[in-house]
Amino acid sequence: MNQKTKNELISKAKEAREKAYVPYSGFPIGAAVLTTGGKIFTGSNIENAAYGLTNCAERTAIFKAISEGYKKFEAILIITDTDKPVTPCGSCRQVFTEFGDDIEVISTNYKGDELSYTSGELLPGAFDKDQMEGKGVNKNEI
Ligand code: THU
Repeated sequence: MNQKTKNELISKAKEAREKAYVPYSGFPIGAAVLTTGGKIFTGSNIENAAYGLTNCAERTAIFKAISEGYKKFEAILIITDTDKPVTPCGSCRQVFTEFGDDIEVISTNYKGDELSYTSGELLPGAFDKDQMEGKGVNKNEI
């Protein structure tokens, strides 16, 4: 990804972070997803009084993209205002893997530190649709 695109992801993820709903953790995160066609979807973390229902920023962004008809992703960027960038949780890693092993995942912070992985590196040995050997899988939807 070129620097201009990355800067755009950063600025959109920062904007999304401002919209985080985090009354319980007070830990806002912003995310931006880049589709292979160059479209950007953003997301923030959304918490709930029933804590386990919290939706992470990355998943919010991906689910927004999917619900708008986009499921091929080039990159996912997440941003926090922390000393070091934070890495995506296990649930988000599983969701990334659903849509490919070679999505570039970038964790960054306001100081510009950056960690970069592929979705496959973040969840080696992930459970995926191939392990179901076609059982119950509707290929038209993938
Ligand atoms: N969180 C994310 O949004 N993404 C992650 O990958 C890690 C955790 C959120 C969930 C919760 O709202 C807050 O960060 C603290 O766990």
